[in-house]
Amino acid sequence: MIALTGAPVDSRAAAPIPHLVEKDGRYALIVDGKPFTMLGVQAHNSSNYPGALPEVWAAVKDAHANTLEIPVAWEQIEPVEGKFDFSYVDTLVEQARRNKVRLVLLWFGTTKNTSPAYTPEWVKFDNARFPRMIDKDGKVGYCLSPHSEETLKADKRAFVALMGHLKKIDESHRTVIMVQVENEAGTYGNPRDFSPKAEAAFRQAVPQTVLARKKSPISGAASGNWSEVYGAYGDEYFHAYAIASYIGEIAKAGRAVYNLPMYVNAALRDPLEPMAPWKNNFASGGPSHDVIDIYKAAAPAIDIAAPDLYASESSRVSANLELFQRRDNALFVPEMGNSAIYSRYVYQILGRGAIGVAPFGVDYADYTNYPLGSKLTDKTMVEPFGKIYATFRPMAQLWAGWALEGRTGGIAESDARTPQTLSFKDWNVTVSFRQWQLGEQPEKPDMKDIPPGTETPSGGVAVAQIGDNEFVVVGQHARVKIGPTGANAGKSTLYARVEEGRFDESGKWVMTRNWNGDQADHGLNLTGRPAVLKIRMGSY
Ligand code: DGJ
Repeated sequence: MIALTGAPVDSRAAAPIPHLVEKDGRYALIVDGKPFTMLGVQAHNSSNYPGALPEVWAAVKDAHANTLEIPVAWEQIEPVEGKFDFSYVDTLVEQARRNKVRLVLLWFGTTKNTSPAYTPEWVKFDNARFPRMIDKDGKVGYCLSPHSEETLKADKRAFVALMGHLKKIDESHRTVIMVQVENEAGTYGNPRDFSPKAEAAFRQAVPQTVLARKKSPISGAASGNWSEVYGAYGDEYFHAYAIASYIGEIAKAGRAVYNLPMYVNAALRDPLEPMAPWKNNFASGGPSHDVIDIYKAAAPAIDIAAPDLYASESSRVSANLELFQRRDNALFVPEMGNSAIYSRYVYQILGRGAIGVAPFGVDYADYTNYPLGSKLTDKTMVEPFGKIYATFRPMAQLWAGWALEGRTGGIAESDARTPQTLSFKDWNVTVSFRQWQLGEQPEKPDMKDIPPGTETPSGGVAVAQIGDNEFVVVGQHARVKIGPTGANAGKSTLYARVEEGRFDESGKWVMTRNWNGDQADHGLNLTGRPAVLKIRMGSY
């Protein structure tokens, strides 16, 4: 039998299906039955065509990524209602296998950055059948209404067809490991739908499932309609519930056919702004941090609400990671800016135990999304991420296992550039920046005589405590010192071994050399060339 792509159909038994596991509020993505750290990149929005793929694969290769996130658009798989064309999906999946890369497919359906731009024309322009949201003044808005059963039915049917097709072509390979349902859902400029149907729903009681999870930020009624319970937050929360229910229904139907992990991505509200009702300052109803509980209540088929990081300040990145990593929500960063300034956050994100991370726009299409991302479109854009991924990739499986066990921590150099400390059992790890490899410079905000490459914050370190006195450290542009705490407090300590090397594909450590003398006398100094150290501490 010949598959659509011309490749022979694989007759292996199905590999175990990718899924998430949880342990004490920490998570791992399991792929082929083993923990998997997703070293991802996301392609540009219009790279979802066979002709565009060569420029994507070239960048994926330079990035040393093990996963590509790339759109599948409703308009391309169902240009004519009821007639499906999966030729792009077939090409994509087959080429991913050839490139030895996994896929995360982004379902650009009813909602892409809140708009219906990726819906087929028969949806986009038929307001009577697929109604748009109505604003407070009765004006027709740009977003499709999440209250329309007909729109939901049509999107769901297309998504189910896609999942069914994936099951058919990929069940024995599991090249596709996760699916994003819609993209940056929500609405700009309008807190919710004010159509008669939505108005009627707004006056209904808040469902018990929501009341049980989402506490009101104001002291409102314990039960009642959305404004009675949530006051001025009611419009946004109601809209979040409507969108989450809509997406949850699509995800549930898709998973019933082919049960891959599924997530939603968020256009973020400012994580540092004191909590306040929506005031036209973010996409209302999207999975922003304050409504994760509503998404959990309304869309149990969605595993993760995930942040898209496009505010590069270290305080905002850290705040967003804090807000989205929860016992009920695995940390996953499906998008972040692709400029070099973001690359150090890979250490912080993976160190925190995220299941994966992906800079956005890592392909060689002649397009840049500056100022959100890099001005560059060639290898120089990819290189800062590529060197980090190349270092992590051989130990990606080990890392995911350590993260699940709660053995890892990570930091990125902050904009303040001050030292930071990570706490582990009976040891702490202090990381400082802009030091030469020999000697100590006093920490000053205006340090001038600094190593090349440290002009802007570029340091990052991820640490795993793999034994009582044993650590794996991976990082760049940083000085690392390990000191005694807890049961070791007060002891005189010394490095027993500081081996530089790498883990091979079988997980075996391969040492290159042992650091001693100058290389260890002034902390362990990581340069712009990311390195992996396996360290054993001793005391006397
Ligand atoms: C976030 C969206 O999810 C992406 O698809 C893309 O539009 C970027 N913003 C901007 O380049």
